[in-house]
Amino acid sequence: MKKKLKNPFFRFPDEKEELQTHLLSWYDDYKRDLPWRTHPSLYKTVVSEFMLQQTRVSTVLPYFDRWLKKFPCFEDLASAPENSVLKAWEGLGYYSRARNLQKLAREFIAWKIIPHDPESWQKLPGVGPYISAAVTSISFDQNIAVCDGNVVRVLSRIFSIDESFKDGSSAQRKLLPLAQTLIDEDRPGDYNQAVMELGATICNRQAPSCTVCPVLKNCKSGQKGDPETRPKLKKKKKGLIKLKRYWIESGDSILLQKGGIEEKRLSGLFELPKNLEGELEGHQNLLVQKSRTIGTNEYKETIYKSSLKSSCDFKKYSLEWITWENFKEITLSGPHRKWIQELRNDRSNSDG
Ligand code: ADE
Repeated sequence: MKKKLKNPFFRFPDEKEELQTHLLSWYDDYKRDLPWRTHPSLYKTVVSEFMLQQTRVSTVLPYFDRWLKKFPCFEDLASAPENSVLKAWEGLGYYSRARNLQKLAREFIAWKIIPHDPESWQKLPGVGPYISAAVTSISFDQNIAVCDGNVVRVLSRIFSIDESFKDGSSAQRKLLPLAQTLIDEDRPGDYNQAVMELGATICNRQAPSCTVCPVLKNCKSGQKGDPETRPKLKKKKKGLIKLKRYWIESGDSILLQKGGIEEKRLSGLFELPKNLEGELEGHQNLLVQKSRTIGTNEYKETIYKSSLKSSCDFKKYSLEWITWENFKEITLSGPHRKWIQELRNDRSNSDG
C-alpha cells in the first residue's frame, strides 16, 4: 500500500495518484529516445546527469556519444589523462564538472560495495542534492525527488505558486519538499525523469503546449490560462565585465594563455591572452568585440592585434606559443575556439 502523504495543494483525495498516473503513462508513451535511457547503466546515468546540469539535452547528445566512445566505463575515465578529459568536454562549459566527474570515477573504482543511498553519493566530488537524487532514484529506485529548473517550472504551474523566488536555486530548495510529496514510490526514477521531461518538452518557459499536456486537468495555471507567468523569479542584475584580449601571432603560431589555478573556472584551458597591458609594444589594432554570458555576468571582450615585448615573462602570464597545426589538439574555452577560427578565416580572406 502506498502511503498517502498530506499535501495542502491537492483539492480532492486521489489527485496525487491521478497526477502520477497521467504523468507516468505519458512518459512511457512519449519519452525521448535518449542514449542513456535505451540501454541504461549506472555509468551512463552519472555521465548524463553531470552533462545535463545547466545544459540542454540537444547540446549534450553529441558530447555524450563521443564521451562513451572515448571513456566507456568508470575505469577508463579514472585512468585517462586529465587533458583528454577536458578536451572531450571542450565547449560544454563549467569545466569543474569534467574534473569532478573524473575524480568521482577514481573514488568510485575504489569502492568495494556500491552504496545506494543519496548521502553516500553526496560525498563524491561534484555530487550535490540534484545529482545524488537523480542517480540513486534512476539507478537504485531510491525514493528521492529531484528539483531542478524544469521541476520548479512544472510544479509552480500545476499548483499556481505565486511566491517570488530570489533566484533559481532558492526556488529549487524551497520546492524540493513539495516535489518529495509527489514522487511515485513504485517508480521514483521514472517519475523524476517524467517531470523533467515534461518541463523540457511541453511545459516550456515561454510557450507551454498546454493543449497536449498530460496533466492539464490537474494544472491550476493551465486551467486559468496563465502558465507563462510562473515561476516568479526575481530578475537578477547582470554584472558587466569588460576585458581586453590580444591577438599576437609569430610565424605559424598564436600566443595563448592557460587559465591558472587561481582562475578555477578555466584552469587547464587556453584562451586569447589578457592582462598583458605592460608587456605590449607598437600599435594595437581593434579586431573585433565579442560578448558572452558566464553565470550571472556578461563579459564584453575586445580583441586587439598586438605585439609582445621580447622581455615578457611567459611563465608569469601562463603564455604559450601554439602552432596552428597543434591548435586542434589543445583545449580552449568554446567561445575562444570559435572566435579565433572566425578571426583566422577573416584574416586569411583579407590577406589573400
Ligand atoms: N534533465 C536532467 N536529467 C534529466 C533526465 N534524466 N531526464 C530528462 N531531463 C533531464
